[in-house]
Amino acid sequence: MAGEANRALRLVLFGAPGVGKGTQASEIQGRTGIAHISTGDMLRTAVQQGTPAGMTAQRFIDRGDLVPDEVVGDLIAERLEGDDVRKGFLLDGFPRTVPQADRLDAILESRGQALDCVINIEVREREIVARLTGRRTCPSCGATFHVRFQPPRTAGVCDSCGGALEQRSDDTEEAIARRLRAYRAQTAPLLNRYRAAGLLATVDGGGEPDEVYARIAAAVPGLQG
Ligand code: AP5
Repeated sequence: MAGEANRALRLVLFGAPGVGKGTQASEIQGRTGIAHISTGDMLRTAVQQGTPAGMTAQRFIDRGDLVPDEVVGDLIAERLEGDDVRKGFLLDGFPRTVPQADRLDAILESRGQALDCVINIEVREREIVARLTGRRTCPSCGATFHVRFQPPRTAGVCDSCGGALEQRSDDTEEAIARRLRAYRAQTAPLLNRYRAAGLLATVDGGGEPDEVYARIAAAVPGLQG
């Protein structure tokens, strides 16, 4: 069973923009030590570094559109070669389309591996917009805050490293609306696929982050509360 000693845990964190995937991923990674693989973070790093993938991705991200499948799929295929992934992984923000899910299946199948669980976090859209418009992130260490729900001790300053907090370029109301449309049209249809495969665990993402984690731990074999 998943979670036994030496058993790698392979998880997907699924859900619309702003439901708290990154927040819960940090918690899960802190408790299990499995690799947290966020395609959003990888793409933002590629943009900062000016790599070919980053140069392609930037205009899609800023508008709130999905980056082409091939660009994201290549990043994931390379990342899943990493040594740290042998202990398991937590995919955050991937897959987001049918071709991406097909590519993930092919990568895992070629290694004789399979997913253990797809954790689907649900939050009402009005709450999502409030979460995203108030989000502030630290460009130095990646920590995430919210001006009202998770405020830093000093406004605008990261609690962890003292860096100046920023608002993400895609956290404007216009880009959020496009991201939500992309989620409904291209990503949400994957829910049926994972439900049919018996992999889907849906949890309510409302309430405090600790409460959400407790629901996830209760729903996912191998995670502890
Ligand atoms: P990505 O970075 O993956 O963004 P996203 O999926 O839109 O999700 P977010 O990071 O916005 O939100 P989250 O669910 O992680 O919430 P968080 O924990 O931060 O992708 C960005 C872009 O990259 C995409 O639009 C696309 O262009 C591209 N991309 C990425 N992956 C791709 C792929 N596979 N294919 C194609 N393109 C791809 O929380 C949000 C806020 O709420 C924070 O301020 C937090 O403090 C607060 N909060 C969290 N939990 C709670 C709570 N329980 N109560 C109150 N506040 C809370």
